[in-house]
Amino acid sequence: MSQTRKYLRFSISDRIEHWVQVVSFGLLGLTGLIQKFSEANISIWIIAALGGIEVVRIIHRIAAIGLMLGTIYHLGVAGYKYYVKRSRITMLPTLRDVTVAWNLFLHNLGFKKERPQQGRFTFDEKFEYWAFVWGTVIMGITGFMLWNPISAAKFLPGVFIPAAKAAHSNEALLAVLAIIIWHFYNVHIKHLNKSMFTGYLSEHEMLDEHALELADLKAGIATIPQDPRLVAKRKRVFLPTYSTIAAVMLVGVFFFVRGEETALETVPPAENIVVFAPLTPTPLPTAMPTATSAPIIGNTWNGGIASLVETKCTQCHGPTAMGGLDLTSYASAMAGGASGIVIVPGDPNSRIIVGRQSSGDHPGQFSAEELQLVIDWVQAGAPEE
Ligand code: HEC
Repeated sequence: MSQTRKYLRFSISDRIEHWVQVVSFGLLGLTGLIQKFSEANISIWIIAALGGIEVVRIIHRIAAIGLMLGTIYHLGVAGYKYYVKRSRITMLPTLRDVTVAWNLFLHNLGFKKERPQQGRFTFDEKFEYWAFVWGTVIMGITGFMLWNPISAAKFLPGVFIPAAKAAHSNEALLAVLAIIIWHFYNVHIKHLNKSMFTGYLSEHEMLDEHALELADLKAGIATIPQDPRLVAKRKRVFLPTYSTIAAVMLVGVFFFVRGEETALETVPPAENIVVFAPLTPTPLPTAMPTATSAPIIGNTWNGGIASLVETKCTQCHGPTAMGGLDLTSYASAMAGGASGIVIVPGDPNSRIIVGRQSSGDHPGQFSAEELQLVIDWVQAGAPEE
């Protein structure tokens, strides 16, 4: 009889919770990793098989909602067990876990004969549970920031958004590897533990893994007997309290999900357009460059002085004739300015030369070469042609 005796380890509710986690975590991990490693062939293949990146993102978000709802439910269950049923809080790590871990380490190395006995949850199960809690908190916060970047940036500097992405994607990799390596090994490979699906562990398995719990169960002290009237009273407090908290959390989930419509659609990648640019062959040999003839600056008004004056002086001494001087034509130039004649043929002391040029502070200044040309021209009698 004792050989076949089974002990209830996980209630239906626990098992449903586990299934919700299996499905939502599994989908999150899959649809997340193919986005993280989007260049890998397998990712490209899975994304295409699922119907494209938009579908993958939507699945990821739906799975995230599943995880959030599962978490809200879990808080209710934990609160109910702790407050209403006054169950022992078996998931809390204790100092004893540290010594158990150390002794198990010594046992595994062969330094200690007996294996340390553990209670309802072994230290590694507690570690995994709290790692999952921690991971869910991190993924929830960073996931919120990625889902609602505009709202997040109202409270935090913008650089937190890419930081959240890095944390989200790396924590995800850690979590998936922890499940595959740690969880699968402990529960499915080391020995096949089906209790999360069947609900039960055999006496032998209990003795092996949870000897202290088994002893408590046998002694009838695993559950502390409660006065049913007090339980009913606590229920009346708990249910409305939890309902309110859950409602607030559901509103939170709603804003999480519907707050912003961002980051779902992908902008199509920029097109690569081939420009039609045929190469034209250059005929060989190319013609040799021809020497450019230098502008003839000669000593006549029309042979150079006029164009020299035009570049240097006529923006002021053009139609506006500042100082009464108009240098746009030979006749007006010879007519002079407000103070009289500026060009006296044959006289190098003409005012066009000494008047404003020698002081150096007049706006238009001839270079030394140009001035020499003007002097030569005036000395030669300032001819027009
Ligand atoms: C940025 C405008 C400006 C430029 C460019 C300019 N001038 Fe004048 N110039 C004036 C003004 C204003 C006056 C009247 C006030 C003065 O006498 O300084 C004047 C007066 C003169 C006068 C005296 C006229 C008179 O009868 O009183 C001469 C000569 C003259 N400029 C020569 C030149 C020459 C030659 C150039 C080109 C190399 C030149 N200026 C370029 C503004 C200019």
